[in-house]
Amino acid sequence: MSFDLNILHGSKEGITDEESLVQFSYIEKATGYVKNLEKELGRRPTACVVTFGCQMNAKDSEKLVGILETIGYESVESEDADFVIYNTCTVRDNADQRVLGRLGYVKSLHKKRPWMKTALCGCMMQEKGAVEKIQKSYRFVNLIFGTHNLYKFAELLCRMFESDRMIIDIWDKTDRIVEQLPISRKYKFKSGVNIMFGCNNFCTYCIVPYVRGRERSRTPKDIIREVEELSKDGVKEVMLLGQNVDSYGIGLSDEDKITFPELLEEVCKVEGIERVRFMTPHPKDMSEDLIDTIARNPKVARHIHLPLQSGSTEILKRMNRRYTKESYLKLVELIREKLPDAALTTDIIIGFPGETDKDVDETIDVVRKAGFDNAFTFIYSKRTGTPAAGFEDQVSEADAKRNFDRLLKVVQETARAQSGKLEGKTERVLVEGINEQDSNLVTGRMSNNTLVHFPGDESLIGEFVDVKLDKCHGFYYTGSIV
Ligand code: 5AD
Ligand code: SF4
Repeated sequence: MSFDLNILHGSKEGITDEESLVQFSYIEKATGYVKNLEKELGRRPTACVVTFGCQMNAKDSEKLVGILETIGYESVESEDADFVIYNTCTVRDNADQRVLGRLGYVKSLHKKRPWMKTALCGCMMQEKGAVEKIQKSYRFVNLIFGTHNLYKFAELLCRMFESDRMIIDIWDKTDRIVEQLPISRKYKFKSGVNIMFGCNNFCTYCIVPYVRGRERSRTPKDIIREVEELSKDGVKEVMLLGQNVDSYGIGLSDEDKITFPELLEEVCKVEGIERVRFMTPHPKDMSEDLIDTIARNPKVARHIHLPLQSGSTEILKRMNRRYTKESYLKLVELIREKLPDAALTTDIIIGFPGETDKDVDETIDVVRKAGFDNAFTFIYSKRTGTPAAGFEDQVSEADAKRNFDRLLKVVQETARAQSGKLEGKTERVLVEGINEQDSNLVTGRMSNNTLVHFPGDESLIGEFVDVKLDKCHGFYYTGSIV
């Protein structure tokens, strides 16, 4: 995989946003601190950002790396660095545990290198209990901040350099969206674009509304401007990011108000952008208008990720999902009818409080009927502060595991049935990098998100090419350029 780093807005030139200007003055100040460190070490200091969780976090990490590179750090992949930043996730307990495990390792590095710094940010830090735990058991951590004040990273870095104590700055919420700060993109040819932040759905199992706050939409003007700039910079594929993209528009003024399908159509019009993805829609808000918009815009990727969570109407009600088994299946039917070549993927939770074997049978029934190309299956994880954590009828681990295995078998069956249907066809793919196992091959991604490996070299990275899909190997194909 290539790691082309691209800095947008690395300088103050043309910046109009007031808060961004304030942050640029901190960037200048922090640059001085990093220069001093460089003198002390006799080499350029290194920084490593480790990302957990979803695409939103990945995008936030690109913002962190943008600041770090602007102030003089060399961005590296190894945690054996002068500065380590963990951008955390808390959607399930195992995400929390993974971060705590890594902190144990970093502690030993701190002992060897007194100048070393460690910062923690992201969703897990928005939970009070998590920060208390860090304060108590991981005293060496230098900086903790949350999801709402990430744009102040440069300012927080200055505070960190100026103090020997742990700096903690967590906000409950924000209505602010700060544009125009540096960003260092991981890929030259594709990029995520935030269209909204936060979530208003309050599914009863989910921590996200508590750690990412209420839904806020970016204005269409700002989004299109970013997409145009990305295109000028060589980006050919964008992914519009939001926790619930099809309710895009909340909080926008009348003059700015457009719907998600309208926004999608506008993004497709940007010259140079050849493919548009989006993540994640909610079944309750997915309109026929959106499906029609996708159908008439060939630039929109033929991949719909539509989280099911459960196929039991009773469980869906307790999850506060606001759709039924029947309405979900109807939606799938509509997608299959209007977008016959689209891949359909989903998320499913097993072991939600009160779930019986019969409920799981309903979920399995939906999986069979919908014929998902792939499904991400999770065992329910109790998140403190969510309504479901207080439900009395929690499911035993053994029952959840048994049903999880039952579900997984069917998921694999339907995925297998779907795979292979493109064998022999020619598909347009975006080449993402050299194949990790065989350097004579490159790896490309099709519109429907499936990977294909085929002979090629580095010069193809970031290019769209037509590839004949010779053979299906389950989740991927091998092929040849036509
Ligand atoms: N337990 C298990 N899985 C969860 N998800 C969200 N919250 C939980 C939880 N408490 C899953 C959902 C969601 C995906 C990102 O994570 O399936 O779609
Ligand atoms: Fe994890 Fe949710 Fe935060 Fe993404 S928004 S990093 S999935 S908790």
